[in-house]
Amino acid sequence: MARGIDVGTMNIVSSRQEGDETVFVGQRNSFVEIEYSDMAKRMLSRSDVLHIRKGDEVYVVGDDALTFANVFNQETRRPMKRGILSNDEQSAIPMIKLIIEQVVGEPEHDGERVFFSTPADPIDSEVSTLYHRKTLESFLQDQGFDPEPINEGMAVIYSELADSNFTGLGISFGAGMTNVCLAYYAVPVMTFSIARGGDWIDEQAARATGTSVDKVTAVKEDEFRLDFTTDAGGVEGALSIYYDNLLDYVIENIRAELDEEDVEEGLDVPVVVTGGTSSPPGFEELFEERLSEGGLPFDVSTVRRAEEPLYSVARGALVASRTEEESDPEDSPSADTDEDTDIEAEADGGRVLEEE
Ligand SMILES: Nc1ncnc2c1ncn2[C@@H]1O[C@H](COP(=O)(O)OP(=O)(O)OP(=O)(O)O)[C@@H](O)[C@H]1O
Ligand SMILES: [Mg+2]
Repeated sequence: MARGIDVGTMNIVSSRQEGDETVFVGQRNSFVEIEYSDMAKRMLSRSDVLHIRKGDEVYVVGDDALTFANVFNQETRRPMKRGILSNDEQSAIPMIKLIIEQVVGEPEHDGERVFFSTPADPIDSEVSTLYHRKTLESFLQDQGFDPEPINEGMAVIYSELADSNFTGLGISFGAGMTNVCLAYYAVPVMTFSIARGGDWIDEQAARATGTSVDKVTAVKEDEFRLDFTTDAGGVEGALSIYYDNLLDYVIENIRAELDEEDVEEGLDVPVVVTGGTSSPPGFEELFEERLSEGGLPFDVSTVRRAEEPLYSVARGALVASRTEEESDPEDSPSADTDEDTDIEAEADGGRVLEEE
């Protein structure tokens, strides 16, 4: 067996194959610190809430962090920021380690392969992704896995572009980052990231309208659409403006990076967008419109949004992991070589398991 895991700024999602189905397990990449009061003790004893106790304090981690934050009137915090481990969050390491352990589970055998997503170095920020990648690698090794990093944009290609021989442009619009990858026949020819995503949109729209970031995020995730003109002056109007701005910024950077690459002429390139930030209705149409104005050095054949934007990176990591396993079965004691090798067809029947 092989596995995949997508370690994102907002969501951590693992993927594994069970028969014909891909099983996903996810948790919010978030935590809250509360006092270990009698009430907290009672709430914690009621269920299998992920938590770490330190003396009089307790950290509630993952999906339950938000519920505890609301009850105890605290703010949730995040172990990651802008796509990588946060350097201004001292408590980040044990929290994210616990979430990863819970989400990926125990290996079936020692040294089971797991491909984990990692962002490309951002072109618009000084940060390096090396420390982040190496730290995740060591967590997964401690857990008994044999980890291998996979670029987040490349994971999108594996997940969504099997039909075009893993050739095309894949873009993951996440919370902390936007990851871009152009691949020909499964070989990445251009990968980069931009240190802006859904969090950036929320922060800008909140600042512009004097609304709290949490409120803006809630509006964006609930009812917001990009396919009709929204009233100027309100939160939705501000969200539209920053969505527009993010798309222009991403396309401008794609064009600039492509200028530096030797791109074959006369290609028809399929484009796939994914990630939570690509969710609002109208996103793919707006992106297509902006792309057509963008003057790229190739023709775009189609622009499509992944069916399950929150799961496609985890799915792609699993496809990469299983592809390696099948091409090198002796390396993996539990590899079932009799199984149907059409991984994509199997991966399509995905279901979501929400574990508490
Ligand atoms: N229905 C929705 N409409 C708009 N935005 C959404 C929706 N659902 C989730 N999002 C946004 O998508 C983002 C989370 O997406 P995703 O899980 O792909 O990011 P991530 O992988 O955790 O982050 P990153 O890849 O940047 O590290 C958040 O900004 C969230 O607000
Ligand atoms: Mg992501």
